[in-house]
Amino acid sequence: MGKDVIIALDFDSREKTLKFLDLFTEEKPFVKIGMELYYAEGPAIVKEIKARGHKIFLDLKLHDIPNTVKKAMAVLSGLDVDMTNLHAAGTKAMMEAALEGLTRADGTRPLLIAVTQLTSTTEERMKADLLIDRNLDDVVMHYGKCAAEAGLDGVVCSPLESGKVHEVCGEKFLTVTPGVRFADGDVGDQARVTTPAKAKEIGSDYIVVGRPITQADDPVAAYRRCVAEFVG
Ligand code: C5P
Repeated sequence: MGKDVIIALDFDSREKTLKFLDLFTEEKPFVKIGMELYYAEGPAIVKEIKARGHKIFLDLKLHDIPNTVKKAMAVLSGLDVDMTNLHAAGTKAMMEAALEGLTRADGTRPLLIAVTQLTSTTEERMKADLLIDRNLDDVVMHYGKCAAEAGLDGVVCSPLESGKVHEVCGEKFLTVTPGVRFADGDVGDQARVTTPAKAKEIGSDYIVVGRPITQADDPVAAYRRCVAEFVG
């Protein structure tokens, strides 16, 4: 898979989600289904969106004992998603078990991406609450390395970290990056943001874009602008 724009379907119902997707009459964007929509509508919404021809990143961030994650991943793989994720903090053993569970009988599997430290976690809170006494950047890179060693395909990270992740984990290791805003757009609650063009320049493989597209007056035009800046 090459560079692509992934639209975050941060809606709380099937109705709102399909109303949004119906706007796209010419293209089938790669979409992200997160906890909100998945917990509201269950696996049926994944199957329905897949049947409409979209690629799906199922963003459920699994984190449990290896055996439980392995079995849960086998179920998610059966939904025929294209990409899913987990927390690297679950350890290499958990990540390896996840890959095993995800791999289908025919040897194919969705891409598996790790969350390192959530972008909402500050270095101060990581030290005080998680008792990890290192700088945040080192921790993110170390978790990335562990994910690569476990055989995962990449990490979710800030676009500003993409270059360094590629240096540490290899050029082929995927960086999937949220926190993208148009140069003339609203930043909202994202702290460290980058434009699609800048994300391309830094080397992100996929950008995840929510509100700049979903809340735009013309979502299709906003999506096309993202694709033109990032891919085209
Ligand atoms: O609306 P916005 O473009 O900020 O949406 C970004 C999407 O990426 C949301 O679904 C958000 O939950 C997700 N995300 C993020 N930062 C992370 C991981 C996921 O913004 N570190």
